[in-house]
Amino acid sequence: MRVSIVGTGHVGLVTAASLAHLGHEVLGVDDDAEKVATIARGETPFHEPGLQELLREGLDAGRLRVSPDVPEAARFGEVVFICVGTPTKPTGEANLVQVERVSTVIARALEGYTVIAEKSTVPVETGVWVRRTIELTAAPDAEFDVASNPEFLREGRAVHDTLNPDRIVVGTSSARAMERLRELYAPILDRTGCPFVVTDLATAELIKHASNAFLATKVSFINAIADICERTGADVHEVARAMGLDPRIGPAFLGAGIGYGGACLPKDVAAFRHKADELGVGFPLLEEVERVNMARRERFIEKIRSAVWNLEGKRIAMWGLAFKPDTDDLRNAPAIEIARRLSEEGADVVAYDPVAMPASKPLLFAATFAPTALEAAQGADCLAICTEWEEFRGVDLERLRDAMARPAIVDGRNMFDPPAMADAGFTYASMGRPTAAPAPGP
Ligand code: UDX
Repeated sequence: MRVSIVGTGHVGLVTAASLAHLGHEVLGVDDDAEKVATIARGETPFHEPGLQELLREGLDAGRLRVSPDVPEAARFGEVVFICVGTPTKPTGEANLVQVERVSTVIARALEGYTVIAEKSTVPVETGVWVRRTIELTAAPDAEFDVASNPEFLREGRAVHDTLNPDRIVVGTSSARAMERLRELYAPILDRTGCPFVVTDLATAELIKHASNAFLATKVSFINAIADICERTGADVHEVARAMGLDPRIGPAFLGAGIGYGGACLPKDVAAFRHKADELGVGFPLLEEVERVNMARRERFIEKIRSAVWNLEGKRIAMWGLAFKPDTDDLRNAPAIEIARRLSEEGADVVAYDPVAMPASKPLLFAATFAPTALEAAQGADCLAICTEWEEFRGVDLERLRDAMARPAIVDGRNMFDPPAMADAGFTYASMGRPTAAPAPGP
């Protein structure tokens, strides 16, 4: 099938490369000419495991090409995916200007029957506006349907999630559009047997916002439990593990820590809350989810303060800057705000991240950067762990302790076992678990 993808950001580019991998002919379009040139050379503009290989495979096979020409997307695709950005306005509302602009340009160039599918995360009722916009602009005999086909990919696992989804959701009132999208995804549906959920436009849009808002709620819920654990000496890790054994709850997304970040969860919670207000129903639960999430950063800084007393003049090693492992994405990364706050309070922050350092440098003028995790810890009064990169788990604890000026660790991602860290000679504070310290000498 001929497929166009408008917007080659994280979602768009992964979708384009994955659909080409499945054998479709794909055109990726973006009005950022520099980005188009980068992709055309087979380079990905961001870090995403497995994407570069898929991109090169598609380009080499001639099944994938990129262009800055949006009208071409409408002429080429039997399905045109809208994957443009929907950034947050200061009010929390999703800014849908790019969605409208793309809809207008596509409408003018439509040829033959085309399915226009929203893949960007958008508030409920956006599809109705997309349809109206196209109807107003397109030639009277243009044949098209609008569908919502949200993605559920996680950064760092985006290729895997796209090719092995838990479900494919299609919202449309048109049987013809639904059949076309089913045919598009047939290679995935046949191989994985994943559910193909067919519903109306508004329901599909809501499924996406409701899913991400629920994930954020789970994280904030366990973080609120973590605070109660700290006051009572309980262990949030054990609480979460036992809660997760109940199939009605499930074990995923119950990791307490410094809170959720990234390009999706914070934006989607804010946009969903705003939409609920606009609809007159409100969603104060989500306000609390956001409040709990933002308070994690302050809680973490307090723990660092407890470890070193005054922050001024203290050397703080920071491991991890990305909002989560396996990505260089710093959007809403708790580590960035935490590092800035520590610097503002006079601490000397020395940061290390396996992939996100180049992107961090322009954001953290006051920090310095070390080429390895151990070098970042050299002479540190405290080590603050902000992202649970796998390489940190394998660190030589003896060398780490010897490198540091004081053996104090504040772990915002609960990566290590507290008693084991105490045995290794560290005072080890984490989130929602008792602080462990080496037994006093004789
Ligand atoms: C998310 C959704 O998972 C995905 O379905 C959607 O399409 C896009 O948004 P992503 O932003 O890549 O994906 O990150 P995700 O893996 O969901 O993690 C989000 C944040 O929650 C991260 O900052 C992570 O560190 C945090 N998190 C996650 C926790 O703090 N605890 C957990 O138990 C799980």
